[in-house]
Amino acid sequence: MTALPPHEKDSMTTPSRRTFCATCCTLLAAAALPGHAQAPVPPEKGPDPQPLKRTEATRAGLTPGRVLDYRKAGAFYLIADARGIFALTAVCTHRGCLVLSEGAEGFGCPCHDSAYNLQGEVTEGPAKLPLRHLEVTEVEPKGLLQVDVSRTVSPETRL
Ligand code: FES
Repeated sequence: MTALPPHEKDSMTTPSRRTFCATCCTLLAAAALPGHAQAPVPPEKGPDPQPLKRTEATRAGLTPGRVLDYRKAGAFYLIADARGIFALTAVCTHRGCLVLSEGAEGFGCPCHDSAYNLQGEVTEGPAKLPLRHLEVTEVEPKGLLQVDVSRTVSPETRL
């Protein structure tokens, strides 16, 4: 067996730039396939610097069974049941995605399929903890409902 010149020996053991780029592209494309998709997890956030969220809702306008979506305004839902009005955080207790309202069924998380009933209790994991109930107050003179997303209240609390 004859020895190869040094430059030919290197080309057999070290991938060329073209081979290296093709391998990288293949790996990136494979990672983008649906079977490899990772559920979106939002970045960790600190406390909201403006925790008081004024809504346009009033007590009179919230009849039992209604669920008002304030995910964009402050990551919560305003809900009315037979006992009164309450607010639930929309932040999933598993990894912090925003849960989606499923009407009277409660809430579902699009990230890993946790489910909560309308009271915020876990009905399906991986989440283990219920959604936080938030403090709701009425602001005069118009009686608009305001939610303090920094204050957790008992699940029994109603306005
Ligand atoms: S973030 Fe994982 S189930 Fe909601």
